[in-house]
Amino acid sequence: MPLVTTTEMFKKAYEGGYAVGAFNVNNMEIVQGITEACQEQKAPVILQVSKGARAYANHTYLVKMVEAAVQECPDVPMALHLDHGDDFEICKSCIDGGFTSVMFDGSHMDYEDNVKVAKQVAEYAHAHGVVVEAELGRLAGVEDDVSSDEHQYTDPAQVEDFVTRTGVDSLAIAIGTSHGAYKFKPGQKPQLRFDILEDVSRRLPNFPIVLHGASSVPQEFVKKVNEFGGKMPDAIGIPEEMLREAAKSAVCKINIDSDIRLAITAAIREHFATKPADFDPRQYLKPARQAVKDMVTHKLINVLGCNGKA
Ligand code: G3H
Ligand code: 13P
Ligand code: ZN
Repeated sequence: MPLVTTTEMFKKAYEGGYAVGAFNVNNMEIVQGITEACQEQKAPVILQVSKGARAYANHTYLVKMVEAAVQECPDVPMALHLDHGDDFEICKSCIDGGFTSVMFDGSHMDYEDNVKVAKQVAEYAHAHGVVVEAELGRLAGVEDDVSSDEHQYTDPAQVEDFVTRTGVDSLAIAIGTSHGAYKFKPGQKPQLRFDILEDVSRRLPNFPIVLHGASSVPQEFVKKVNEFGGKMPDAIGIPEEMLREAAKSAVCKINIDSDIRLAITAAIREHFATKPADFDPRQYLKPARQAVKDMVTHKLINVLGCNGKA
């Protein structure tokens, strides 16, 4: 099956009360770990590439690795998505360069500029058979090395105007999730604004909603990282039961990156600490890839509910 857009995936996810996982890819082991899990679980998947990933691994390498995964995983509907494209040019470059979906993230702009560029991206994307995600509101946390403590929750009163004027295909909203491994302070009760999600979905019937910053920061990884020489005090994520609840609603895409980073780092740190004589990268990248696969398998079945939906 060739790369697909998210249109059909989201329609089925919306109707079926589950979400599709959008996992960030930066190297071959990550692509393999995610897609092998999806092939085994017969799950659709979105592989997403950030500006930082393109700078690190190179656009062409990433596209070719994803094309290899498409070939190796014949049962998996796979979309290749630009994560957090912050201007028209990067969106255009990914549309021209083989992506099937792009996010234009205008959350750093004022409302009218966000509308203007999102519309421009949607027009260009649609003319090339590509779909577009946009964002309203702004997540707290770390984005492009800039960190902010302040949630700017999505204003439900803006969503109909935004979607109608821009023509985008899905919308990321801010309801209290945040990027990175430190989403809540120790002792703070994790909370998401499900009331905003409900209000938005009432105003946009059958419209796919996206949750960014949705890693759960599994504590077994944090413990392992800290046990084997790491220093990640108080890393806390979104409780899985909240994500399960979101997946049953209008949320059709759930973004996960930090959990991949944690799975890999925990596995490699353990390997280095317990097998200090090893120096062949394959020796420690193999368990790292397996850790990504195990983590993704768990998400597909227990959090997203998209196993068996390919
Ligand atoms: O939302 C951001 C993603 O986790 C990508 O992170 O820009 O460091 O690749 P990155
Ligand atoms: P996490 O940092 O919670 O994994 O969020 C990833 C994300 O939103 C990518 O766009
Ligand atoms: Zn994000």
